[in-house]
Amino acid sequence: MARSAAPKVQDTELHLGLDLTPMIRSVRYEDASHIFQILERARKASAVPIGPNWSEKQIAEECRGVGYVFEQPKALGGGGELAAFLLFRDTGAAWEITFLATDPVRQGQGFMKALLERMRDDRPQERPIWLEVHAENVKARRLYEQQGFEIVGERPKYYADGGTALLYNLG
Ligand SMILES: CC(C)(COP(=O)(O)OP(=O)(O)OC[C@H]1O[C@@H](n2cnc3c(N)ncnc32)[C@H](O)[C@@H]1OP(=O)(O)O)[C@@H](O)C(=O)NCCC(=O)NCCS
Repeated sequence: MARSAAPKVQDTELHLGLDLTPMIRSVRYEDASHIFQILERARKASAVPIGPNWSEKQIAEECRGVGYVFEQPKALGGGGELAAFLLFRDTGAAWEITFLATDPVRQGQGFMKALLERMRDDRPQERPIWLEVHAENVKARRLYEQQGFEIVGERPKYYADGGTALLYNLG
């Protein structure tokens, strides 16, 4: 399916003080390798499957599209590395999340909540956000439900382990 034009995603710095600033910015093609590594680590750490098994090349193609990353400031010991990413597609009817993950060593620090809030703030008002998640992915489901997402459908036996995919919508 042809993708519609990428929505504008502006870079923003959340100023907590000079160069201690954690930064949410739009994804770049050059982020692909780091995003792939985060995804690999997140898969290993996760008890349930977390999306399709894309190659690094496929992830790189996705990075040509739209999404956000949370970059750790060097001054906070992050070495300018990415802590979390969120990739999505604009289908015209919705912003559809394809992949999101926080590096396992950075989880539980509010990174994904910040990225999702940013996405909510940036979207055109009429544009819903869609995603799908393994029914047993407790952490992700809690996050989505906290953000106001609602279950609108399910796909039984969707994942490799036989798990059900739940379809969530934020209107
Ligand atoms: C799900 C995931 C993205 C959350 O990212 P994160 O940066 O750790 O999340 P945050 O620190 O921003 O936490 C936001 C919310 O997520 C939920 N959450 C995070 N960690 C949790 C845990 N250990 N147990 C239960 N809920 C949890 C909570 O609702 C939390 O809000 P709260 O702190 O106010 O309770 C992360 O665990 C991850 O990358 N998992 C592997 C990849 C994945 O499952 N992707 C989703 C595929 S659809």
